[in-house]
Amino acid sequence: ASDSEMQLIRIHEYMTDLYHHILMHTKEGESALEYLEDRGFTSEIIRKEKIGIAPDMRDFTKNALSDKGFSLELAFQAGIISRNEENFSYYDRFNGRIMIPIRNHQGYIVGYTARSVDGREPKYLNTPETSIFQKRRLLYNLSDARKDIRKQDEVILMEGHLDIVKVKMTSVGNVIGLMGTALSEQHIQSLTRLASNVTLMFDGDDAGQSAQLSLGGDLLEAGLNVFVISMPKGMDPDEYIEKNGKTAFENLVKNEKRHYIHFKAEYLLEESMNNDMAFSNNIRTLTEHLKHVRDQVIKDRLIQHISQLYKVDRQSIEQNVPASAGGYA
Ligand code: CTP
Ligand code: MN
Ligand code: MN
Ligand code: MN
Ligand code: MN
Repeated sequence: ASDSEMQLIRIHEYMTDLYHHILMHTKEGESALEYLEDRGFTSEIIRKEKIGIAPDMRDFTKNALSDKGFSLELAFQAGIISRNEENFSYYDRFNGRIMIPIRNHQGYIVGYTARSVDGREPKYLNTPETSIFQKRRLLYNLSDARKDIRKQDEVILMEGHLDIVKVKMTSVGNVIGLMGTALSEQHIQSLTRLASNVTLMFDGDDAGQSAQLSLGGDLLEAGLNVFVISMPKGMDPDEYIEKNGKTAFENLVKNEKRHYIHFKAEYLLEESMNNDMAFSNNIRTLTEHLKHVRDQVIKDRLIQHISQLYKVDRQSIEQNVPASAGGYA
């Protein structure tokens, strides 16, 4: 990071410690700490992630920073305080929210995702785009997960930041998150450099399912092997762990990985059955996906799955998916 970037990072490091202290050791943090404990987050993980609370005050962060001699102009550039564009006065951006620090790939804190605890909207408020906080480049938890990702040659991708924090309390370490559900070119590039395998583990609601379907296709096109772990309906990984425990979660991760194309074939089956147009479109989509599968054994197995599920001859699928001779479409 450059000198000017380091200045913005130091503002984050300072405030993160302060927010964390307030959460753990002051009256101001009591109800938020209780909220986190009720959700199963231990003080150990809260300390490790340096989770904190921004007090519900208009000028807390502003005053804390200026008392410490930080420039408010820089704090504004860091996205940690806001500015009234009429009179150029500064005020806090985050009020009464749980502050979850976000680190860049080098492990420096560059922003926050901030959750409301009292039902205030929006549920999550993020740091705005800044010179050090660019959603299209950031992968949440990458700096911690990198070692496990390399060792396993696999990235597990999740939607929610608190899902990832909760999973870090288990033995599964190779988890990362996007900032929201958008997958950028830079994200895809980073992922292809990190591992050959990506496993998607999104929320078991409609939003999660459709994000999973569309991201999976992009990742497959990028040459990655893509797998899906389906959450029970209406559950996310955090809720799964709370309901079923760490061991059940670890077993799920070990045992329940379906290839993306297998997942999609099952997902599209129902609408295909009574709709011939959807049937042929979906078969075409699936065979198009198959062109990106390099491993001949896996490809063969997927063709078999699709032919059984859709009750079509495997030759008619194979016709459209020539055996890959090393390269890929
Ligand atoms: N999100 C967001 N703003 C919202 C809702 C969601 O930015 N108003 C993003 C957040 O990154 C969030 C992810 O989408 O983590 C998934 O949303 P959701 O499932 O609603 O949140 P959870 O992560 O499950 O949060 P919680 O368990 O605290 O409700
Ligand atoms: Mn969700
Ligand atoms: Mn293609
Ligand atoms: Mn959740
Ligand atoms: Mn969720």
